[in-house]
Amino acid sequence: MRWEGRCPACGDWNTLVEAPAGAGKPRDRFHPAGRSSVAAPLREAVASEAGRLLLDIGDLDLVLGGGLVSGSVVLLGGSPGIGKSTLLLQAAASVQRTGGSALYVSGEESAPQVRLRAERIGGAALDVTFFGSTGVEELLRVAHSARPDFLGVDSIQTLSSEAADSAPGTVSQVRECTAALQAFAKLSGTPVVIVGHVTKQGSLAGPRTLEHVVDAVLQLEGSRGREHRLLRATKNRFGSVDEIAVFRMTGAGLAPVDNPSEVFLSQAGGVSGSAVAVTFQGSRPLLAEVQCLTARSRFGIPQRTTSGFPPRRLALLLAVLERRAGVQAIERDVFVNVVGGLRLSDPAADLAVAAALVSAELERTIGSRAIIGEVGLGGEVRAVPRLERRLAEARKLGIEEAIVPATALPATVTHEAAGAAGAPQTLRLVPVSHVRELVERIA
Ligand code: TYD
Ligand code: MG
Repeated sequence: MRWEGRCPACGDWNTLVEAPAGAGKPRDRFHPAGRSSVAAPLREAVASEAGRLLLDIGDLDLVLGGGLVSGSVVLLGGSPGIGKSTLLLQAAASVQRTGGSALYVSGEESAPQVRLRAERIGGAALDVTFFGSTGVEELLRVAHSARPDFLGVDSIQTLSSEAADSAPGTVSQVRECTAALQAFAKLSGTPVVIVGHVTKQGSLAGPRTLEHVVDAVLQLEGSRGREHRLLRATKNRFGSVDEIAVFRMTGAGLAPVDNPSEVFLSQAGGVSGSAVAVTFQGSRPLLAEVQCLTARSRFGIPQRTTSGFPPRRLALLLAVLERRAGVQAIERDVFVNVVGGLRLSDPAADLAVAAALVSAELERTIGSRAIIGEVGLGGEVRAVPRLERRLAEARKLGIEEAIVPATALPATVTHEAAGAAGAPQTLRLVPVSHVRELVERIA
């Protein structure tokens, strides 16, 4: 035996929990019947994940990687009040609407409470089968006999198993219950969606272990004051983790947002320190507003506070701007915020962040110009993939001018082409090849 302080899988500290050997159920629960237990050539293996259940709620299916895979276990996380139970019930209703049967198990709310929610959501929500339970054995007995096409469980923290004698929500309980639900999912082919609450620190309360066990982890985000909700996968065995779905909380549940870009552009245009980036989140281009503020540093080490943009990337941009374009912001306090909770991991957002910085530092507004490009260490502005689709998205949102990498022209886009093809209006392209030119454009 030896000590381990750090999880070898996710790299987080203090997430490992000691458990007595032999605790829990026999191993074979993880290898249920129906799975081949003989060695055989791969070519003879039949895909058991062929079936995908389409839920058709905005871009939820996209985030899942093309629908809910049969036999998979999905964890739906988010802070209290964000809309997890609502989304779960909507998913169940959607299964019901398309002729399937959905079982919704809640240990959090009573049947009358969930009924009220179902009435708000409307559609087939009232046809969903409800079972109020906090015991995993009991709920699985019901699930076994009901044989639903979809099982939703709200929430993992309220469930407990007879196999563990600790309180609900503890690591051993969460692990037991998840394992039991997983065995059911694999055995019956039923997709199971489990709700999990997130603590203030941002991790799923107690059960970090849970994230390793399930097939996909979806995270519902948003601030309670705002009506918009962002759904993204932080883990997905069956698809990419880049896709996002944008919803609006309405009086009748979560509704898809038709034009997500609008959500990420704040109304307050025309102030210095604000720039519009065109980023790809998975397969979709999105306009995002970057806000930046610089201030005199009062302490020895200048502060860097970023939200939605990698701090290291910011440090790099600051260094490049100072060395290659003479913008002396490196000793200043710098705050960067991406509007609407979006995360800009796409390198094509570099130039927009640099522009927001320059704009903040020089106190010059950029206006509603879209700014697209990757910034290299030499200060050069590099071409970005899928420029045309980014420009099309900008044009759709009424942007009239875009600063783009000069290297991308005219090979991919010509000035004429940008305004052609039935576009509502033309988009002026301003090519730049170096951050110096960007500074000249803004100053
Ligand atoms: P809920 O799904 O209960 O959140 P969670 O399960 O993540 O804690 O939703 C919480 C909020 O959503 C609650 O404040 C009420 C609001 N809501 C609506 O605005 N419209 C609706 O149609 C529904 C069902 C809920
Ligand atoms: Mg809830």
